[in-house]
Amino acid sequence: MRILVLNGPNMNMLGVREPEVYGSQTLGELERAVADHAASKGVEVECFQSNSESALIERIQEARGSFDGIVYNPAAHTHYSIALRDAVAASGVATVEVHLSDIAQREGFRAHSVIEPVCIAQIKGRGVRGYLDAVDLLSQRADRQAGRGDAAGNPSANCEDEASAQALPGRALAPRDVEAADPFERQALEVRSLPGAGESAARRLRLVGDFLQEQGLDAFCALGTSDIAWATAFENVFDDERAHALLVTQDGALLHTDSRYSHAARQASDAAGGLVAVSDERVSHARAVIDAACDRLGGRPLALGFEDDVLLKEWRALVSAAEGAPCGVSLQETSGALIGLRAVKDPGEIARLRAAQAVTDAAFAHIVRFMKPGMTEREVQIELEDYMTRHGARGLAFSSIVATGANGASPHAIPGDTRLEAGQCVVMDFGARAYGYCSDMTRTVFIGEPSRRLAEAYEVLRCANETVGATLMPGMTGREAHEMAEKVLADGGFGGLMGHGLGHGVGIDIHEQPTLSPRNDRPLPAGCVVTVEPGIYVPGEFGMRLEDCGVLTDEGYKVFGTSPHEMVII
Ligand code: DQA
Repeated sequence: MRILVLNGPNMNMLGVREPEVYGSQTLGELERAVADHAASKGVEVECFQSNSESALIERIQEARGSFDGIVYNPAAHTHYSIALRDAVAASGVATVEVHLSDIAQREGFRAHSVIEPVCIAQIKGRGVRGYLDAVDLLSQRADRQAGRGDAAGNPSANCEDEASAQALPGRALAPRDVEAADPFERQALEVRSLPGAGESAARRLRLVGDFLQEQGLDAFCALGTSDIAWATAFENVFDDERAHALLVTQDGALLHTDSRYSHAARQASDAAGGLVAVSDERVSHARAVIDAACDRLGGRPLALGFEDDVLLKEWRALVSAAEGAPCGVSLQETSGALIGLRAVKDPGEIARLRAAQAVTDAAFAHIVRFMKPGMTEREVQIELEDYMTRHGARGLAFSSIVATGANGASPHAIPGDTRLEAGQCVVMDFGARAYGYCSDMTRTVFIGEPSRRLAEAYEVLRCANETVGATLMPGMTGREAHEMAEKVLADGGFGGLMGHGLGHGVGIDIHEQPTLSPRNDRPLPAGCVVTVEPGIYVPGEFGMRLEDCGVLTDEGYKVFGTSPHEMVII
């Protein structure tokens, strides 16, 4: 297969040109990265850049019949050149439009592309990785068209050939080659320029209001801290304590808390336009919420929703407050109401999740340089967590897993005194909590040259991750995604060795909705953020997992992180 990689005006200035927007790589480096990646997939590429519209038109016209696909960054032409749009349409060659930056999130004039309607996909905001994804997309499409995929039209899951090709020495990365392409400082800047909390809270409270209407409820009482943090969009107010109640009615919201939090909550409320009232009256949450709801309804009987995951003592307090309430109260149990609404993330949440993931990427680039044979799992864990906390994380999304040798076969192993030894692999699963959101990633690295069996297992694992990543679309069920990974693992000779589900939602909490698991027969919604984390666990021998976290869009699954999938040998 042959792919033409085209870059439009000013792309020859990469490296010098606004590196905070486009990265610091030069055009030559970008083209080499694409060519290397393509070569690893057996794809040949030819690269061309020009500042001249006519030269680009000619290359596109000539591509007809001589190339199977075009990866095209039209640069500024994107936004106005009908001549280039017509060239792409006339050539009939499958074209993927790519942009280093996320043009939708920049100045208004960049949001529109006249080229996009004649392309098979547009990939933006993924840096150099977007070009690599475009190559993958075109090559998988070609495979499908040539009937090299399975009956369902999925990309080929035949990992055997790839495994032996990839196991050749020289294809692996050394620690110095692992880079965090997306500096977390830049991500932090993006978070700071997001629309205010007031807008987010208004939208989320509206969603809860719609839910109330659908369910015939007058009000909702949320007691879960993450649900409350989400609905109020308050930043820097809540910690891990379950110490608050939120009342939501069609007229607004009331946060009942105590004096440890009320000052910060009032500040956050003022900053968000006062949409959420704050009370720290010294009564139980149940009494505060029920009395306020009765008051808002002017004495009418009250149907009050609450989640079925409340604690028994909270339920008893609700019952007793309902009995002594100034209006008739009927308590109505709901299941998964707010966590269900939280499954689809808004752009502010996506930016925060991306920023949290950038911390994890930076930590991975750091830890592979730090790791040496002879260190213990615990030493690596401490360094990893210390690095994340010093570089953007407010805390940890969960206690990190560092497991080597046979310990890796236990997916949630607790790091201990086992030392890293040549010939083994090390599973590292870690995540930061930053900007109120979690990140999650797992990489498996190798201490010294791996045995053929380990190398093959890793390539099958990688194939499972990338097959799902390239195929995942809104509307697929969680079960279908899980089964797709299981099939790739089984076809590669490692079936039945992944005990856990393929992935889970991530947000304010590390485990949210939806899940990619055999238990989820519901279609995955666009806008959900999920992990894809196939694993191979061979008891008594080794374990490995390769996990990304990203958002599901109508254009497919967009991974937040930029850490490589290539084998890393320490
Ligand atoms: C670009 C975005 C365009 O808006 C801009 O004119 C470019 C580069 C990108 O890769 O992000 O030159 O295409």
